[in-house]
Amino acid sequence: MRAVFLGPPGAGKGTQAKRLVQVRGVPHLSTGDMLRAARASGTPLGEQARAVMDAGELVPDAVVDALVEERLRQPDTRDGFLLDGYPRTINQALALSRVLAKRLTPLTAVVLIEVDEEALVARITGRRSCTQCGAVYHVKASPPAIEGICDLCGGRVEQRVDDNEALVRERLRVYHESTEALVDHYGAQGHLRRVNGNGSIDEVAEAILEATAPEDVGGERA
Ligand code: AP5
Repeated sequence: MRAVFLGPPGAGKGTQAKRLVQVRGVPHLSTGDMLRAARASGTPLGEQARAVMDAGELVPDAVVDALVEERLRQPDTRDGFLLDGYPRTINQALALSRVLAKRLTPLTAVVLIEVDEEALVARITGRRSCTQCGAVYHVKASPPAIEGICDLCGGRVEQRVDDNEALVRERLRVYHESTEALVDHYGAQGHLRRVNGNGSIDEVAEAILEATAPEDVGGERA
């Protein structure tokens, strides 16, 4: 499987990606996680990304393209990968196509997770994330057993700095302005699978399994 998860902030891309990669045995490539790791380790790239992310805007294409290209050079991606949060602009999609064309490994699926806008705001403002392992919780839908402590690794569970309501609205605006065009872009290539993301986490996971079934090649059932 060589897949992309597309969808607005809070659609459930990260939550579903963590599940799907376990089933399919491919690495989870999240540009949001890569950028947060760069910030946490204080690299020049992380410092460059900090202000942009805290404003809810997009990090420049060239920066993110280079991160992803480098990651795709690593051998664990040879048998497949799941990209989450990338591409986010048409230029990023074109950059990804060029990298994959060189490897002769085109995408096998682009999954669009669709969720009603007000539900997105409630999901993101209620999200809590583990600062150590990245596990994702929600104060109502899926809280950790002990408040503030990760069930999986015992790390601190906190709210992401960009998860307040004002920034969520800005991130949604940026999604509509820059990322939504990818729906038509991948639709025209026959790669797009639409999944209703309004159901429970289990229901959405089931729909995504179906949408990324191995026999799906080039947008057609083989
Ligand atoms: P990134 O980390 O990618 O954030 P995002 O795309 O805004 O997506 P989110 O992580 O907010 O949401 P999600 O869809 O993963 O939802 P989740 O599963 O957590 O990017 C952050 C920033 O980095 C960007 O703003 C930008 O600055 C920069 N960046 C990243 N990639 C970039 C790129 N390619 N180019 C340029 N800049 C880039 O779920 C949300 C909550 O809902 C959780 O609490 C979860 O428990 C809950 N939930 C999930 N599913 C359900 C369900 N079915 N029912 C009820 N609750 C649910």
